[in-house]
Amino acid sequence: MPSVTFDAASRTYLLRTSTTSYVFGLDAEDTPVHLHWGPVLTQEQAASLPRPAAPRASSFDGVGPAEELGTEAGARFGTPSLQIAFPDGARGVDWRHLGHTIDEGHLTVRFRDAVQPFEVDLHYRVRGDVLERWIGLRSEVPVTILRCDSAAWSVPSLSGYRLSHATGGWSAEHQLRRTDLTVGETTLTSRRGVTSHHANPWLAVDGGDAGERHGEVWSCALAWSGSWRVTVTRTPSGSTGWTGGFGHEGLTWRLEPGEEWVTPVFAGVYAPDGFGGASRRWHDHVTQNVLPEPDELRPVVYNAWEAVGFDVAESNQKELAVLAARAGVELFVMDDAWFGGRTGDSAGLGDWWPNPDRFPNGLAPLIDEVHGLGMRFGLWVEPEMVNPDSDLYRAHPDWVLHMPGRPRTLLRNQLVLNFARPDVADWAHKWLHRLVGEHGVDFLKWDFNRAFTEAGQPGAADQDRLWIDHVRAVYSIMDRLRADHPHLRIEACAGGGGRTDLGILARTDQVWTSDNTDAHDRIAIQHGFSQIYPARVMAAWVTDSPNPLTRRVTPLSFRFHVAMAGALGLGGDLLKWTPAELAEAAALVGRYKEIRPVVQLGRQDRLEYGVQYTYGDQVVVLAWRGPVAHGTPLVPLRLAGVDPLGRYRDEDTGALHHGALLMAPGLLPDLPAGDYASTLIRLRALGPGSSD
Ligand code: DGJ
Repeated sequence: MPSVTFDAASRTYLLRTSTTSYVFGLDAEDTPVHLHWGPVLTQEQAASLPRPAAPRASSFDGVGPAEELGTEAGARFGTPSLQIAFPDGARGVDWRHLGHTIDEGHLTVRFRDAVQPFEVDLHYRVRGDVLERWIGLRSEVPVTILRCDSAAWSVPSLSGYRLSHATGGWSAEHQLRRTDLTVGETTLTSRRGVTSHHANPWLAVDGGDAGERHGEVWSCALAWSGSWRVTVTRTPSGSTGWTGGFGHEGLTWRLEPGEEWVTPVFAGVYAPDGFGGASRRWHDHVTQNVLPEPDELRPVVYNAWEAVGFDVAESNQKELAVLAARAGVELFVMDDAWFGGRTGDSAGLGDWWPNPDRFPNGLAPLIDEVHGLGMRFGLWVEPEMVNPDSDLYRAHPDWVLHMPGRPRTLLRNQLVLNFARPDVADWAHKWLHRLVGEHGVDFLKWDFNRAFTEAGQPGAADQDRLWIDHVRAVYSIMDRLRADHPHLRIEACAGGGGRTDLGILARTDQVWTSDNTDAHDRIAIQHGFSQIYPARVMAAWVTDSPNPLTRRVTPLSFRFHVAMAGALGLGGDLLKWTPAELAEAAALVGRYKEIRPVVQLGRQDRLEYGVQYTYGDQVVVLAWRGPVAHGTPLVPLRLAGVDPLGRYRDEDTGALHHGALLMAPGLLPDLPAGDYASTLIRLRALGPGSSD
């Protein structure tokens, strides 16, 4: 059972999950200092933890003890989590403990600056195996905020440190990097106004000795969909920690008297059982505490973006819908270019009514057709953007992010609407509410295809506030749409997977993982994605071969088996698929529906060349191999999470397996010959006493 306790004698806070303890205490100067993050401790053990040595005895002694939130006051030389400038020019916060409250696993510890009427609340909330942290600020004098992280985290002293994180780019998101952590400061960040393709706001640190199933791992993830920054510090004296939050360097914000400033959650997980254990704790957290509809099976989607691009028409959408329905698709999504004068990427964005040439009778005929075929209907939208060549921009050129006298830099021929302006956010909410309501739209693919530039708001007192307020307005619109249209489901997309984070997942149902649908490339992308995000939110389409992006040729079954590891969709030009391919696709969609609860609701274990899902008595293994040289040995896949004393039947071949042997030596998959071989194996535990 999660618990939060305070030992008054030692002034120690202890937060416990079933597998973790987190301990911090107050030093003689009232500074909240970090004491432990790792295996479970009792209160007595926590109270006996050695306190850091008397701080800052010499200006040449390292950076000072690990703090729960470093500031700039006094002799502190580490990365500050909180940088505040007061009206008299003074900087830093000198902690004075005011007290705390504990409310159902939520600890709030209150502090006040020693000099200024400025208060900081440190929030801690235990949720399952995850510890959520954030802060709140209040001031009776106006202050400038230069950095305001949600939390600082410290790991125990280890003989080495390794950093795992995800990096990449458009069509190459979520590339897992695992590197020796250098002494100094390593910054992971986005300065783009959106989560970004280039870095994802999570990290993991281990001693360099952890594997998928063994070793200690400490991991954190930020619930924020705008600019962000995490600074990881390894000191020359051998300690490691990180601090992170929203915003990037150089932004400043004004906090006025009476205002409350609250940061997003920066959550942390300790796993004693390797990277797989850390991932499963994240998956459980996303499922149990983040997603709005966690238990709902994600539908099989069809989306024609790769098939028709901007050449959307009522006729081609209807033709494709017929084939999609025959293949077993449950949700038909019409992508870009159904609205305004949008026939390419240079015009029409912002004019959210059906293109009269393409849909002369509005959307109703297509939607009726889709519904008649037994599918739900979804639409692509990109509410935060505008093409200069649009009625919206001609009417409201001041609605975009801009700076007086500066160019308005176009990216993909579009500008960013400033949702920090209440009138702009209100406009967006109104048309989205009307669109969803009038047409009974079941699903929105909410896209975002360019970064912020010239992020100004002429006339606003606090220019940089828009970096935060824009994101909050997006969250608020999504929340209101969901509340008003309970059937509505939303997919987060930003030119592929550029907006994947725990903040957006609190109001969406899945993520468009990447514009790269090449199954071979997807294996690495999905591997990185799975480090903290669960399979049920990972949208994965089967598209054409050769792949339109990479020109790689792969078998249909390989494309399916890779996409079946997430929320399966179809995205190819079905009009060009042969009858045999369409029949194979229908059979594989049917097969996916059988395994869908196991994939989407089950436990995930990453295997050497595949992935395993376990749900109740069912086990699904998806295995794949790219091109390999002749003679490359095929090693058995060592399964996890099965009952070593149990027996399992292969549901397709009838073969029987002992659980213990599935784990070691493992299961040798029967992969077909040739490049891009893949297979799906379904096992079911035999009940006790079964005579098989
Ligand atoms: C980027 C998305 O990632 C694609 O799937 C597609 O929706 C295009 N935008 C449409 O412009």
